[in-house]
Amino acid sequence: MCGILGCIGVEDAAQVLHDGLKRLEYRGYDSAGIAVAHEGDIQVDKTAGRVEAIEPTHIPHSTFGLAHTRWATHGEPNEANAHPHTDCAGRIAIAHNGIIENHDELRQQLRQDGHAFTSTTDTEVIAHLIEDAYQATGDLGQALRQARHRLEGSYAILAVHADEPNLVVGTRHESPLVVGIDDGALYLASDIVAFREHTDRVVHLEDGDLVRLTPQGLIVDGQRTEPVQAEQVAWDLEDATKAGFPHFMLKEMHEQPRALREALTGRTQPGSIELNDGDTPTCSPSNETARDRGIDLAQVADHDQLIFIACGSSYNAALAAAHEFEQLAGIEARVERASEYEPNPWQTDRAAVVAVTQSGETADTLRALEAAKQAGFTTLAVTNTNGSTATRTAHGWVPIRAGPEISVAATKTFASQLAVLHNLAAHLAHLRGFTPDPRVREELDHLQDVPTQVQATLDEAGPANAVGQRLADHDRCFVLGSGPNHPLAEEIALKIKEISYVHAEAFPAGELKHGPLALVEEGTPVLALAPRTAEDPEAMISSMSEVAARGADVIAITDEPQPIEERGFQTVPVASKTEAGFVYSALVQGQRIAYQCAVERGCNVDKPRNLAKSVTVE
Ligand code: F6R
Repeated sequence: MCGILGCIGVEDAAQVLHDGLKRLEYRGYDSAGIAVAHEGDIQVDKTAGRVEAIEPTHIPHSTFGLAHTRWATHGEPNEANAHPHTDCAGRIAIAHNGIIENHDELRQQLRQDGHAFTSTTDTEVIAHLIEDAYQATGDLGQALRQARHRLEGSYAILAVHADEPNLVVGTRHESPLVVGIDDGALYLASDIVAFREHTDRVVHLEDGDLVRLTPQGLIVDGQRTEPVQAEQVAWDLEDATKAGFPHFMLKEMHEQPRALREALTGRTQPGSIELNDGDTPTCSPSNETARDRGIDLAQVADHDQLIFIACGSSYNAALAAAHEFEQLAGIEARVERASEYEPNPWQTDRAAVVAVTQSGETADTLRALEAAKQAGFTTLAVTNTNGSTATRTAHGWVPIRAGPEISVAATKTFASQLAVLHNLAAHLAHLRGFTPDPRVREELDHLQDVPTQVQATLDEAGPANAVGQRLADHDRCFVLGSGPNHPLAEEIALKIKEISYVHAEAFPAGELKHGPLALVEEGTPVLALAPRTAEDPEAMISSMSEVAARGADVIAITDEPQPIEERGFQTVPVASKTEAGFVYSALVQGQRIAYQCAVERGCNVDKPRNLAKSVTVE
């Protein structure tokens, strides 16, 4: 889980790389480094800690180079282990994102051949493999290709050589890598945000591609069946900056009404969700043709069961939506943690597999998706990232269009995933000719009102902020939610845990008395999701009374505060009219409570400890 960036043809490589690394820090930030070529040498500057510790004006002038921000997997986060790594002679510098699984074996062989190592990383073997191959070929691209053949694992690699002025080479296998094309300059990075301030024209690389960047242009060697095509990025830099908010998370929470509009606009009518964003896939894995991959929603609708595979917040979004697929479309829905999923080949005729992943690069989800595809399932990806590995692996994909999400904690992408899944359920119902309960259909018609209700809820921040501040004094809390609100309770608990480090557990309210009640003490904070539209609103109120009787500090998130306040409970109000609407509005109040609690506790809200945004290793 690291960020890499290379550039060529720029005025000041050190500054461009430094700025780009700062934007990539959401992928990891425990050490950083920059390498530039200068007067026939490679100059490397590295640091343990954040990129701020590197001073770009102290780096010699160059028009090309590469850089890395690290999240340690092999070897502790110190300066020696920071990338870029170099070969024995210090003539080659490389940056790598991913994991080299056979690094021990390679290191042993390379040592026997006389190579000396300066770090304990898995990555350093790549620099030495390229060194050997370069001696044989005298060509950096060829050398990278040869080195790649000896690597097992996942990687995106960039390399420069002191003897090859004006050349940056790169390759990828199961790790993202995208080229940015500007007038006279080219960029190569794990994520578009690294160079978005310079250009909006990109080429998404595929596994196996080998790319050479020179000031004259870009050469991609691969096994593509379609020509390389530049695409235009649909979001601008403003979307990837804090825009005056103290944290990305807060900004992204406030972007939810817009993201939801984008996810829902024009898509609630039957036929208005098209796979692959209406395009035929332009790229395809080497063993398939683009045509083989093209499926339409009718082929998904033919199945009686959907198996959702996802991790973390995306898992919670799938869990929350599963109910809709059953109610609206009459399709049985199962939700599996991608890290645990093993396909059952007997189900391929009955079930289709849907990967839900905002990044489209989560290693556990990609492994599960590939396994499902290999087993013969029809596969679909629901993702925020056009061009990601998930969109290239699945037979079809549905964009959620939330815009870039920088904060490690998923907020707007959770809301957008849920909205898109909700619509997808409606589309499948139409294609299946399934007539849902009129109440369920009416809920769907009200989905268009959700962005306005979410905005009204965001505008009402006071009570949620107060609860967040109170929660900051505690080490643990509980979140209660029943029926369709139980996945939401899980999501709110996850947000509290990951950004404020308060141990939060979610339970269906009815489960309390079967064990968790023993944990409730005097003053234990308990958040209860209490929608007016619940099948039995009194059941939640009695669970709240049950914990309050054991001394808990109970706060209800509700769209009908009055009867709850009359029973003596504190409330956090939300604006909603329907059962589905409640989920979205209660979500933003839960996020707000987590956010305020983290701020109060002095936590690094956007970059929680031990976590990175895109988990590209299993
Ligand atoms: C939590 C969070 C993570 C991700 C998970 C899956 O706030 O962001 O739990 O949801 O790592 O990531 P994607 O959706 O990119 O597959």
